[in-house]
Amino acid sequence: MRISDKLGARLQELGVELRSSVPLSEKTSLGIGGSTDQLLLRKFESIPDVMHLLANENIPHRFLGGGTNVLIADGELPYVVLHLPTSQPGMRVEGNAAYVDAAADLGGMVTFCAKRDLGGMEGLIGVPGSVGGALRMNAGAYGTQIGSHVREVELYRASTGKLETLRGDDIRFDYRHTSFAPDDVMLRVKLELPQKPFKEILAAIKICNEKRRASQPLNQKSAGCIFKNPPGGSAGRMIDELGLKGHRVGDAMVSDRHANFFVNVANASCADMLRLIDEVRERVRVNYGVELENEVIFWKN
Ligand code: EPU
Repeated sequence: MRISDKLGARLQELGVELRSSVPLSEKTSLGIGGSTDQLLLRKFESIPDVMHLLANENIPHRFLGGGTNVLIADGELPYVVLHLPTSQPGMRVEGNAAYVDAAADLGGMVTFCAKRDLGGMEGLIGVPGSVGGALRMNAGAYGTQIGSHVREVELYRASTGKLETLRGDDIRFDYRHTSFAPDDVMLRVKLELPQKPFKEILAAIKICNEKRRASQPLNQKSAGCIFKNPPGGSAGRMIDELGLKGHRVGDAMVSDRHANFFVNVANASCADMLRLIDEVRERVRVNYGVELENEVIFWKN
């Protein structure tokens, strides 16, 4: 979608930087996604004005974080993408509390806190993506879930058109699911973390990194796990048992390292990836009677 010059000028007055026709395949870890205009927000305070302007002009929009858990349709996209502002480093620590911008890098946050002797998030070290994306999905790995540490979230609520602060206790964090509204935009988070010596945190981080390197295709283009695990089960194990590792549709392939990772081996399209997802889901349904739910978020047109 193209922003007109006139609207572009008004957005620039609100401190927005505009980039025309950006291929989102360059912004996602899967390397898949069509093109659209990109709006880089520079100030949190201007978000309500920017959102009102886009609503008044009937411009559909979506916020893109780290782009690591999203599958975006091919071709010219019928919406613009917005990116949140972040200062450098986008995080600070005060006692046991860490205050982090949603646009900050999740792994960077774990390391930043570790260096200040705050732990509890070791398992999240290799999870790619932004803090905001991790919050929305309640990202987790190796026994850690980000939601357990959340004390406050500052967000833009599309339903009220305002910036608001939610208390951690008022947010539900379940397995890869939260009670945020789909159009809530995470802006900043306050986490409360246990004190731990840096050396201990580093040792735990090393173990998680080794486990991840041994079981996941880290050097290939993927969106992490494609499906959520069904209650009490493992999507990866089921797909593996069906002999589907290496199964391909075009350039989309079930990883031969971890069967719940689907990788883009060269120039996979969204259509290839969707067909692969559907084929695998169907095989699991027929053989195990389990309907796998997507963990990856699909942005259809
Ligand atoms: N397994 C296989 N074959 C495979 C993959 C896994 O047999 O190809 C077996 C493993 O041997 C193990 C079991 O399945 O016995 C579970 O595998 P793993 O420990 O890799 O964990 P997972 O349930 O597949 C989850 C998360 C990962 C997270 C790891 C580590 C989900 C959907 N996945 O994977 O998160 O990194 O645990 O905590 O919850 C993600 O969310 O994108 C993600 C990668």
